[in-house]
Amino acid sequence: MRIAVGSDHAGFESPEPFYKPSIVAHLELRGCMVTDCGTSGPDAVDYPDVAQRVCQEILEGRAERGVLICGTGIGMSISANRHHGIRAAVCTTAEMARLTRLHNDANVLCLGRRVSDLETCFLLVDVWMETAFSGEARHVGRLRKMDK
Ligand code: RB5
Repeated sequence: MRIAVGSDHAGFESPEPFYKPSIVAHLELRGCMVTDCGTSGPDAVDYPDVAQRVCQEILEGRAERGVLICGTGIGMSISANRHHGIRAAVCTTAEMARLTRLHNDANVLCLGRRVSDLETCFLLVDVWMETAFSGEARHVGRLRKMDK
């Protein structure tokens, strides 16, 4: 799967290991083709700019899904969800990651450096990657309503 990944400076917040490169490496180990949409170091950047780059990769067909990292995951999710066709979900538990694929067909996973430890982020990525959208009519109908 092609996946676009982005973070703001929270993805490079000390102490190491930094979240952004660790999550990129984790996705690559899983066999994903990763497009890195920045940032690439600890200097402050604005999360909406990074979210926009990741969303463009998806909406223009160069990636199937995206992962965004900021301090809480919240700023990234608010930003990403401004883009029509993006369904971004902040997840902090494996059940949230599972259900947001099953029910919401979330195409962007948002992770929080300051709220989830790195091992939990790997688990969230794994569950989110491995869970398919249920395709149930009630969920399809609800997604269609959001896209009107
Ligand atoms: C940056 O300090 C922080 O505000 C940002 O990473 C994010 O948590 C916003 O939602």
